[in-house]
Amino acid sequence: MISVVVLLMSSMAMACNVFNGSWLYDESYPLYDSWSCPFIHGDFDCLRFGRPDTSYLKFRWQPAGPCHLPRFDGVDLMKRLEGKKIMFVGDSLSVNQYDSLLCLLHAASPNSTFIRSQHDFLWGVVFEEYNVTVMYYMSHYLVDVVVEKIGRVLNLDTIRSGADWLIADVLIFNTWHWWPATGVHQQWDYVRDGNRTLKDMDRTAAFSKAVSTWANWVESNVNPSTTRVFFQGISPVHIGGEEWGENGSTCEGQTEPSNPSAYYAGPVPQEAIVKKLLSNMTKPVYLFDISYLSQLRKDAHPSKYNGVNSTNDCSHWCIAGLPDTWNQLLYAALIHRI
Ligand SMILES: *[C@@H]1O[C@H](CO)[C@@H](O)[C@H](O)[C@H]1NC(C)=O
Ligand SMILES: *[C@@H]1O[C@H](CO)[C@@H](O)[C@H](O)[C@H]1NC(C)=O
Ligand SMILES: *[C@@H]1O[C@H](CO)[C@@H](O)[C@H](O)[C@H]1NC(C)=O
Ligand SMILES: *[C@@H]1O[C@H](CO)[C@@H](O)[C@H](O)[C@H]1NC(C)=O
Ligand SMILES: *[C@@H]1O[C@H](CO)[C@@H](O)[C@H](O)[C@H]1NC(C)=O
Ligand SMILES: *[C@@H]1O[C@H](CO)[C@@H](O)[C@H](O)[C@H]1NC(C)=O
Ligand SMILES: *[C@@H]1O[C@H](CO)[C@@H](O)[C@H](O)[C@H]1NC(C)=O
Repeated sequence: MISVVVLLMSSMAMACNVFNGSWLYDESYPLYDSWSCPFIHGDFDCLRFGRPDTSYLKFRWQPAGPCHLPRFDGVDLMKRLEGKKIMFVGDSLSVNQYDSLLCLLHAASPNSTFIRSQHDFLWGVVFEEYNVTVMYYMSHYLVDVVVEKIGRVLNLDTIRSGADWLIADVLIFNTWHWWPATGVHQQWDYVRDGNRTLKDMDRTAAFSKAVSTWANWVESNVNPSTTRVFFQGISPVHIGGEEWGENGSTCEGQTEPSNPSAYYAGPVPQEAIVKKLLSNMTKPVYLFDISYLSQLRKDAHPSKYNGVNSTNDCSHWCIAGLPDTWNQLLYAALIHRI
């Protein structure tokens, strides 16, 4: 009888999907006061740039069913990571999560002195009391953009920066938002796919090949007994109000999360590509499947409160805000092995 109960409980635990659930209003949130965080990059510092509403700060992610998501404990995290390095690799959505983690750790240990460094593409902060280093490595595509005679070539098959990433004990990767970019925002002139050099190709297909290259890099370079590898998942944008039943609107002026039953956009296609890829890897890579929970947060973007009055940013996220939940999931995965 007891063994049956244990079996049932363990199968329930396996059925737990922390990435499905809903947002609950919680007065004890946010987890820190953004005014006292010295690490927020301008465009994410919504309160400083005049955002008048604050209820977007007060939502807690509640996984469905039997799942339990532990509350973020920054001191616990730093104690366990003493002497270690965490590195976020990717585009500005990685900066979003990096800034959030810095704020969370600073709030947990406000008297810990820190050393900040910032080079072109590698930034870092060391919290000296625990000797924990948090880093950001800028890489829009994860694969290389190489300057050749013909111009800038996006090489879908190579990763030259990999050696720099291996100094970290915890790696969190992300890419997608630059793949669809065209015109002045496009960071390359040609794309090389195997032995073909093309002026352009389907962007999702190119992304898919690049993340396969990245997966192969992980398979041949990462030692899973010393390095934990995560993929941040694909962060959604809120520029098309038809996704939540308000044709013509964007994230601007949104003050509440969407009700799951009133959210009409399906899964983010690139997330499905990454999911399939990771499920076929021999080395363990944990996917933060954050698309859905983030899709419900049309209220959590900077919109016009980003220090640049003429833009309406519905891609990045306010800090404090949604990326704190991404880090709560990181904490739970690292420490509690959810
Ligand atoms: C969440 O769980 C519900 C109930 O099982 C299911 O209907 C829904 O499709 C799930 N949503 C996601 C995004 O997994
Ligand atoms: C801090 O940790 C790094 C490894 O990340 C180690 O090389 C260094 O010696 C440590 N510093 C102190 C003061 O313990
Ligand atoms: C930080 O230092 C101040 C002043 O020394 C002290 O009052 C406070 O309790 C300290 N906070 C923590 C979390 O140690
Ligand atoms: C390009 O690669 C394909 C498949 O690997 C091969 O069949 C083809 O001969 C190659 N073409 C050139 C010009 O090298
Ligand atoms: C909103 O737009 C969708 C297509 O984008 C359309 O099917 C729907 O009828 C529109 N709804 C309203 C209320 O205009
Ligand atoms: C899964 O991985 C194997 C080798 O590791 C590879 O041959 C196969 O194409 C992969 N399948 C998918 C769907 O990616
Ligand atoms: C944005 O607008 C506010 C209010 O009109 C003004 O105080 C601020 O200086 C403007 N910021 C920029 C970057 O133009």
